[in-house]
Amino acid sequence: MSNRGSFGSKIGVVLAAAGSAVGLGNVWRFPTEVGNNGGAAFILIYLFSVFFIGVPVMVSEFVIGRNTHANTITAFRKLAPKTWWRIGGIEGVFVAFFISCYYIVVSGWTLHYTVASFLNRLSGDQDYKAFFNSFVSNPWEPIIYTVVFMLMTHFVIVRGVERGIERFSKLMMPMLLLIIAVLVICSFSMSGFAEGITYLLRPDFSKVTPSVVLSAVGQAFYSLSLAMGCLCTYASYFGPNTNLMKTAMSVSVIDTCVAILCGFIIFPAVFSVPGVEPGEGPGLVFITLPHVFNIAFHSVPLIGFLFSSLFYLLLLLSALTSAISLHEPVTAYIHEEWHVSRHRAAGMVTAGCILLAIACSLSMGVWNGFRIGGLCLFDLFDFVSAKIILPLGGIIICLFVGWRLDRQLVYNEVTNNGSLRIRLFRLYIFLVRWVAPLAISIIFINELFLS
Ligand code: PFF
Repeated sequence: MSNRGSFGSKIGVVLAAAGSAVGLGNVWRFPTEVGNNGGAAFILIYLFSVFFIGVPVMVSEFVIGRNTHANTITAFRKLAPKTWWRIGGIEGVFVAFFISCYYIVVSGWTLHYTVASFLNRLSGDQDYKAFFNSFVSNPWEPIIYTVVFMLMTHFVIVRGVERGIERFSKLMMPMLLLIIAVLVICSFSMSGFAEGITYLLRPDFSKVTPSVVLSAVGQAFYSLSLAMGCLCTYASYFGPNTNLMKTAMSVSVIDTCVAILCGFIIFPAVFSVPGVEPGEGPGLVFITLPHVFNIAFHSVPLIGFLFSSLFYLLLLLSALTSAISLHEPVTAYIHEEWHVSRHRAAGMVTAGCILLAIACSLSMGVWNGFRIGGLCLFDLFDFVSAKIILPLGGIIICLFVGWRLDRQLVYNEVTNNGSLRIRLFRLYIFLVRWVAPLAISIIFINELFLS
């Protein structure tokens, strides 16, 4: 493909990939996991997982994408023609599509909460659990928000790589970081600040069990957007001078800092309100936090209003940059392989996602009785994509780059044809050959058969 798009600047590359990584996983999932798994000890294991498993897998995806300059399915086919390895590419595109379908439903909720908090409807003494439940089980409202959110994603995708994804990420990521900075500064003033930060930073190793370790590795994968074809597709738009190792490190550092800073925002608020537990589970962001924000800023409602509005805006922007990166691998594949225009390819993906997302959304309400293997459609999509296909994809990527690809090709990509001195190349190969696939296999077996 000679006229493929490409990123125009180094900072654009980092911000687009960081935009993919920073998402609901950081703001919503990470604090919930920290809360459920005992605070700082979890964070330490998480850091280890990010840098010893996540970064090598990310570099491997970059190698595949940049070397072939093609969508993920074509990329595997080019590197290993007529072999079973192509399953790796097919997996990436499929899983990105299926994850999109429920990711945009939760993103639609964040759009609703953002609108509601700006309209000051998330204030006062109300039953936030009932507020949430009546919203998600309403047949129309969540669908409308989901469709609006998807159209926002579509609008960026059709503008292409440089004018759409890159420009949008360059605008959104600094805004996101600014909002985080304002919220962290605000949280200094909360009565639960010291307790919240202690909870986050003091490790208690008695809480560490094998399942805590597995959750940390799983969270690292999800948060870094690995094994879903996204980073591989983004890397296919990298220029010849992009330093793959450095980019992977920058993205991982940004993603991890954002996750931890979100903990700095959420836990002081949670500890400011008596009787609220940090391990509240998935309802943390949509049920506990609106309640907590109200009580914590009871004496100055205006600050409460600003805090909550900015918080949901943060959630929304982060969801948007991630949803864009889930859309792109599928759009790129259809555009390049089915030979239709980028506009039409994006339209097909958007329409398909909306249809399945409507089904997912309804499965939280009127279709809740329809279950497969005991799971409603929403949970089924999450389970099959995040717990089954994703780890398998991670293992395939590691084995492919670690064992199947020519070592010289990998070396040339990582060092930009020998022009960069990469001291850790051997460590990288060791991690990608042995450590990462073994670790992911253990998680996979545990998640599927033992938990
Ligand atoms: N990394 C994103 C998050 O933390 O929310 C989620 C995500 C985006 C996963 C893109 C996978 C992906 F391809």
